[in-house]
Amino acid sequence: MSTSLLDQVKAALATVNDPEIKRPITELGMVESVEVGDDGVVDTKVLLTVAGCPLKDTINRDVTAAVSKVPGVTGVNIDLGVMTPEQRQQMREGLTGGAAQREIPFAKPGSLTKVFAIASGKGGVGKSSVTVNLALAMAQQGLKVGIVDADIYGHSVPAMLGLADSRPTQVDDLIMPVPTASGVSVISIGMLKPRRDQVVAWRGPMLDRALVQMLADVYWGDLDALLLDLPPGTGDMAISLGQHLPSAEIVVVTTPQEAAAEVAERAGTMAEMMHQRVVGVVENMSYLPCPHCAAEGKDHRLEVFGSGGGERVARTLTQRFGTDVPLLGQVPLEPTLREGGDAGKPVVESDPTSASATVLTEIAGRLAGRSRGLAGMQLGLTPSSRF
Ligand SMILES: Nc1ncnc2c1ncn2[C@@H]1O[C@H](COP(=O)(O)OP(=O)(O)OP(=O)(O)O)[C@@H](O)[C@H]1O
Ligand SMILES: [Mg+2]
Ligand SMILES: [Zn+2]
Repeated sequence: MSTSLLDQVKAALATVNDPEIKRPITELGMVESVEVGDDGVVDTKVLLTVAGCPLKDTINRDVTAAVSKVPGVTGVNIDLGVMTPEQRQQMREGLTGGAAQREIPFAKPGSLTKVFAIASGKGGVGKSSVTVNLALAMAQQGLKVGIVDADIYGHSVPAMLGLADSRPTQVDDLIMPVPTASGVSVISIGMLKPRRDQVVAWRGPMLDRALVQMLADVYWGDLDALLLDLPPGTGDMAISLGQHLPSAEIVVVTTPQEAAAEVAERAGTMAEMMHQRVVGVVENMSYLPCPHCAAEGKDHRLEVFGSGGGERVARTLTQRFGTDVPLLGQVPLEPTLREGGDAGKPVVESDPTSASATVLTEIAGRLAGRSRGLAGMQLGLTPSSRF
């Protein structure tokens, strides 16, 4: 009788994932002991990966919830401890399969993760907004998604996702990406600075190390898609990316106004230099839906920044590469998009029926649909990715 209750409790514990690593705590060696008393009270010792783990409240709550559900359990006592260096080492080896360090999983042949680098000719065109919304929309569509904020000038991605004050947990030299509420994993170059207020002039080799660190030393698990927010223009970061992840596909963000030739030229040069593919163009701030006409149910678009930029960039790049570089979509100028970013809840989540969210969701579907790692296919190949 009590053995079977213990088994049920263990099964319940196996349903609890570590919030950062996203694998069952039982599998990670985090459950050191579990006992059930004759009175139905469960005593368990759970080991955190590091002392002061920021997510210990979540683990505490999830363990309590899971174990309390087992019929016959009358109470749960959780003793939170910390892994020893040896236990952490064991966990690390389990996670990385004992692989050599500094290996970028996405660059390995046969990787099922689609990598999209979001690029623009100049700053302020909405690159970060597009990155976070595409990522969240893909996650809504059932994909496992990661974001690398590689913009050395801005690193605004964490704030847009409500993670401005978050720092990644580090288990020895393995870094855990910060999860958003909806489960997208995020790492920002701003999180790698030893101190937040430190001003770092990211250049050449240092930048290269930072990019490799974000790709190789971060435990991403099995992702369907990884999106990178690149610094505007061509530069050291783009060169590093091309060297370390030549399979990354470029998505160019532009406004309708921009001198098409210039943007296309820069994006094209970068992609050509790196032997990377440009998969499409997103035109942002395409038009302002006229609020007066919208109130009357009419579609009247105010072309605040002119028109045709996205179409022109797409056409120029298509000619240059001789392969189809489509205009993936036109995202309207909407206050709700800016507000979502400012509030840390991007528009595809905060206002999913708005015009901008609808277009961004459509673009995400188009990009995800082209993905090598189709959800169903991947399920069969790597069952361990389904945690
Ligand atoms: N379609 C839109 N409608 C309304 N506001 C927008 C839209 N796109 C972007 N914005 C706003 O414009 C500002 C700049 O956008 P964002 O930070 O995404 O651009 P960026 O290209 O990443 O800029 P930077 O070069 O500074 O990194 C933000 O305040 C954002 O909320
Ligand atoms: Mg930005
Ligand atoms: Zn009008």
